[in-house]
Amino acid sequence: MSYDLYQEQIMDHYRKPRNKGHLDQPDCKAKDSNPLCGDSLELELKLDGDRKVIDVRFDGEGCAISQASASLLTVALKGKNLDQIRRLTADDITKMLGIPLSPVRLKCALLSLDVLRLALRPLLEPNGSPPTSDEPSSASMEQGAGSA
Ligand code: FES
Repeated sequence: MSYDLYQEQIMDHYRKPRNKGHLDQPDCKAKDSNPLCGDSLELELKLDGDRKVIDVRFDGEGCAISQASASLLTVALKGKNLDQIRRLTADDITKMLGIPLSPVRLKCALLSLDVLRLALRPLLEPNGSPPTSDEPSSASMEQGAGSA
């Protein structure tokens, strides 16, 4: 996909966010904010018996990068199991967005991944320690349905 198409995709997910809102009875959820700007993001997930994501919602305010990143991530999460989610890295998020990001914008882009890890921490790491973020990812971050 070209740079222009990635930019278009970001704006599309910002203007028409997928999976925005709340679930009735989420199995896990978390909220966190970007310390640089104060924008916060909330993520809720529902898992099936095999601990696969069957539904996910996000809510919050923020810039186009943070909102598009959250929207793209929720689309990519559906159908993934905890093992695949554990291997998601910052690199997967930046590849999904597909445009160069300054360090400040990177914080915006990674807010959704940080909140996801917080939400799943009790399931991924029973002792409460966060999963490592620098191991290579083998999880496939497919682009969202309906994207350009
Ligand atoms: Fe606040 Fe990007 S400026 S999340």
